[in-house]
Amino acid sequence: MVSEKDFIATNYGTIEKANFKWSAPSNIALVKYWGKKENQIPANPSISFTLNNCKTITSLEVIKKENVSEISFDLLFEGKPKEDFKPKILKFLQRIEIYCPYIKEYHFVIDTKNTFPHSSGIASSASGMAAIAMNMMSLEKEINPAITEVYFYQKASFLARLGSGSACRSIKGEVVIWGNHDETANSSDLFGIPFEDLHENFKNYQDTILLVDKGEKQVSSTVGHNLMNGHPFAQQRFAQAHANLSKVKAILSSGNIEEFILIVESEALTLHAMMMASNPYFILMKPNTLEIINKIWRFRNETKTPVCFTLDAGANVHVLYPENVKEIVLQFINNELVGYCENEQYICDYIGSGSQLIINN
Ligand code: DP6
Repeated sequence: MVSEKDFIATNYGTIEKANFKWSAPSNIALVKYWGKKENQIPANPSISFTLNNCKTITSLEVIKKENVSEISFDLLFEGKPKEDFKPKILKFLQRIEIYCPYIKEYHFVIDTKNTFPHSSGIASSASGMAAIAMNMMSLEKEINPAITEVYFYQKASFLARLGSGSACRSIKGEVVIWGNHDETANSSDLFGIPFEDLHENFKNYQDTILLVDKGEKQVSSTVGHNLMNGHPFAQQRFAQAHANLSKVKAILSSGNIEEFILIVESEALTLHAMMMASNPYFILMKPNTLEIINKIWRFRNETKTPVCFTLDAGANVHVLYPENVKEIVLQFINNELVGYCENEQYICDYIGSGSQLIINN
């Protein structure tokens, strides 16, 4: 089994300077990661669709420096210095330093931007951390050309996880499993692995993200995960996630969209139920979230269109449906749901293939 020690870089060389650029997508969980142990180890396994359009594009300029006593970097957002993003990135670099000891030998200029609006309430931490991790692995490959492709991607996911848990599912497409799961060979708490057996029915599966509340998250994910410590239903929830992952895998292979809908919606509501039953307790849905859910249920009943929803730890609604009903669902969204979105805003996305290299020199 792969262990943390396997990801400590050794026998690497040095370079004077380099420039890399990667894009990394966001992802949407079907079985949710909610609760974690020390060192970003998930309390239960999860599975997600990697998205295509919602992504972070990050360049990393690497310059060899003299003073190797501390981590140093400039952080730019859309080309301009962004001091308030720095502490989070510094914490990330400090966390990964033991696995990437070369970090202190270089000064970095990190320039990052998102393809989705900054204040859209969409978490940019998954795509953001994944994009930095990919760049870091490009640097590692440059100073140690012997590393294999398997190691490159596994370690990228491993590093991304240390920045934000769900980021480890943003390295590869189209469907990724993260967390030890008895019924999934090679699954690991340390990194995500691709799910290879996706049925035709789920190819190009659509995710239209309805922006119900574009404000700051009411509960940060760190606080949210902590609410599962000592939660009265924690053990049952973790056991349920294991069972649901087995079911979702079977469904994604068999192509049964009706069963898919039932589990995916149940997972979303369970995530919110956990928060409502926490101490302290939170309601992260807004009235418009519920309006949308009810409209989706009515539309599905009346038209038999296989459309369903999932939620993150917030009020926005991800509307999931197969590509062959795209036209009718978009019409439904435009006619009946946009009125519940802030400024009538929504983002059309679908399953994508993971991070992509843009520049390497
Ligand atoms: C509800 O990955 O944002 O979206 O590890 O603290 O950065 P940290 O948490 P994060 O949690 C995501 C929670 C979720 C469910 C999921 O994506 O699986």
